[in-house]
Amino acid sequence: MEAIESVILAAGQGKRMKSSFPKALHCVAGKPMISYSLDLIKALKIKQGIVVIGHQAEEVKNELSGIYKDLIYVYQEEQLGTAHALQQTKPFLSRSTEVILVLSADVPLLRTSTIRKMILHHVKNKLSCTLLTANFEKPEGYGRIVRDQDKRISGIIEQADLARGQDQIKEVNAGVYCFNRRDLFNALSLVVQDNKQKEYYLTDVIKILAAKGYPIGSIAVKENQEIIGVNTRSDLANVSKIFFKRNLEYHMTNGVTVIDPESTFIDGHVKIGQDTIIYPFTIITAGSEIGKDCHIGPYSHIINSCVGQESRVHSSVIEKSKIGERVMIGPYSHLRPDSMIGDSVKIGNYVEIKKTIIGNESKVSHLTYLGDATLGQKVNIGAGTITCNFDGIKKNPTIIEDGVFIGSNNALVAPVTIGRHSYTAAGSTITQDVPMESLGIARSRQKNIPGWVKREKKQETQ
Ligand code: UD1
Ligand code: CA
Repeated sequence: MEAIESVILAAGQGKRMKSSFPKALHCVAGKPMISYSLDLIKALKIKQGIVVIGHQAEEVKNELSGIYKDLIYVYQEEQLGTAHALQQTKPFLSRSTEVILVLSADVPLLRTSTIRKMILHHVKNKLSCTLLTANFEKPEGYGRIVRDQDKRISGIIEQADLARGQDQIKEVNAGVYCFNRRDLFNALSLVVQDNKQKEYYLTDVIKILAAKGYPIGSIAVKENQEIIGVNTRSDLANVSKIFFKRNLEYHMTNGVTVIDPESTFIDGHVKIGQDTIIYPFTIITAGSEIGKDCHIGPYSHIINSCVGQESRVHSSVIEKSKIGERVMIGPYSHLRPDSMIGDSVKIGNYVEIKKTIIGNESKVSHLTYLGDATLGQKVNIGAGTITCNFDGIKKNPTIIEDGVFIGSNNALVAPVTIGRHSYTAAGSTITQDVPMESLGIARSRQKNIPGWVKREKKQETQ
């Protein structure tokens, strides 16, 4: 793949998305749409990737430069069509490069194996251009491949420019091409805007090359869905669904049980260990890692988090956090970003945890908020405990050392430290540090008034 350079066209506005941000950055199963094309180039080990940007160029560039390091960005100031977009790349391509692979930012389902096959076909047959095609029962929206009587490709007609009879053509253009560099730029300079959309169509290059008698080939995809282009929100939903299905198949093949694939959504770049069971209505986003023998769900949302082996997450949300092994979470817990939970911890019903470290074998079983806290090992947090971590200006830390027992319904006013093996009494508002092995009690003393009821009742009846 050394003598090949690639170009991804991503300058268009994506009008049909009706969106205030660029189409290329709309997410499909956890990744910006354009990432699929970029990852494909990476997988093929193509030495250089050019991305043509234009509409909201800086947004696209900023987003991508955080993920991909060695891309070349070429600006198409005015979006005058796909041919015009490709023409902008001429000064950036090496004169020694023979083959240019052109991809779109909005065709995310392509398989690496398909493109590899296409390149090999192109090179082996010394073609001027190779197209990727499919036969669609409903070809609406795609350019149609026009063939002559000998079945040789003679051009591509866009949907808007179809002549009578041509709407019967079912063979469509994927918008993915291999070109001989020199032939491509010669032909591009001849493309004109004489069409319904008044654009410079890249697809007109095919007609020009064919008229000159240059050899044009095509590869038909095995699975039609591979070339679905995303132009509308409905296409986006369609394509996402296909990805989720692909991802689930992958995990099931690796020994993960998915109880109901219809209600389970797992992004790409997720690792799941063997014999883990995913229960219905569960979403796992990119970057997450789930260990083996876990039970995840039902009704759980794991966002870019790690869950250790043999853990359970029931009806809970976990964001950007790390969970140890044999941890029980839920039902109805919310772990907010930057929480680190040790092994054999129990986080129970209705618990919110934020930016908190919890040591091994600790229990936070019921109705609790822990924020900016550090808990040691074997800590027990009583029901209804709240860390008062915010003083109105800044967040303050709470430290609860090993073996501490926090009584029910405590307010721990931070900054505060509870020394190891200490207890706090139920109903306390702890505003001062509790030294180790002590009891902290901070509540008003109970007073009983004997005979109060009889006395009160007598007054009422007088
Ligand atoms: C294009 C093809 C069509 C094919 C379809 C497959 C043309 C004229 N038509 O149509 O034959 O069946 O893809 O999905 O090429 N872009 C630019 N600059 C521009 C215009 C577009 O960079 O001035 C980029 C877009 O951002 C997009 C890609 O080119 O990533 C394709 O453009 P789009 O407008 O989506 O073309 P289609 O109408 O889908
Ligand atoms: Ca498109």
